[in-house]
Parts: sequence; C-alpha cells; structure tokens
Amino acid sequence: MKRILVIHGPNLNLLGQREKDIYGQTTLEEIDVQLQKLAKTHSVELLTLQSNHEGDIVDKIGSAKKEGFAAILINPAAYTHTSVAIRDAILAVSLPTVEVHLSNIYSREDFRHKSLVAPVAHGQISGFGVNSYLLGLQAVLGIIK
Ligand code: DQA
Repeated sequence: MKRILVIHGPNLNLLGQREKDIYGQTTLEEIDVQLQKLAKTHSVELLTLQSNHEGDIVDKIGSAKKEGFAAILINPAAYTHTSVAIRDAILAVSLPTVEVHLSNIYSREDFRHKSLVAPVAHGQISGFGVNSYLLGLQAVLGIIK
C-alpha cells in the first residue's frame, strides 16, 4: 500500500479557535479525519503530523523517502514564506510534493504572496478551506497512481 506523508506547519494545531473568519471552524483533527477517509477509499496509507518547529519538519521531510513515503502533502503555514530549509529538504528528498493553504494567500498581506515552497512543489492549492487539503490529496493520488 502506498504511503503519503501529510505535514501541517506552525499554528495549525490551533485551527477551530484561530482567526476563524480566515481559517474556518474546522479543527485539525477533523481535517485529518476527512483526509483519512479519502485515503481509505483510495487504498493509500496516510501519516499526518503537525509541528510548530521548522527543524522537525525538515527532519521529517528528509527521512520521508527512507521511511517509504511516495509523496508529501504539506501546508507549511507561516514557513511557506520564510523557510529555505523546508524548500531545500523537498528538493533534497525529491518526492512529489503538493502545497496547500486553507486561505487564499494571494488575497492577503503582501508578505504572504511569496511561497518559497511553490517553485519546488508539483503544484499549489490555495483558498478553498478544508477542501484545499482534500483537493491536494486528490492531486497527490493522481501523481502517484
Ligand atoms: C496558511 C497561510 C499562511 O500564510 C499562514 O501563515 C498560515 C496558514 C493557510 O493555510 O492559509 O499559518 O498556510
């Protein structure tokens, strides 16, 4: 069974209470349940993790191939806009990676308009709330099928 690594970046553990007008009411646990349900119908295995620490995310991406993952679905959250290290880890591991965002990062503050991850990702989905994740997983499934 193919395995997909799902990474949620900083502050996404606070979904459901954090800036609900922007990120919605759905908690991270609820998002993971929806992702697992979709994964099940496609007979793939998902490992989901959330971290507020850049180095943890870099480590996890770096060992993803060794751990048998076929692809990565990532919401790098604020690190999207700052992390050369996460971008380099994706390049280093060379696994198909899809970037997702709940909000439309291009309709928000200027500093969110640039993603350091997008140029090394297969593609990016931004602005569809929880559906960004589900669309992102579908994109990953299409890539690895
Ligand atoms: C986010 C957008 C980022 O700009 C922000 O820092 C986040 C969440 C999103 O999912 O919309 O934490 O990645």
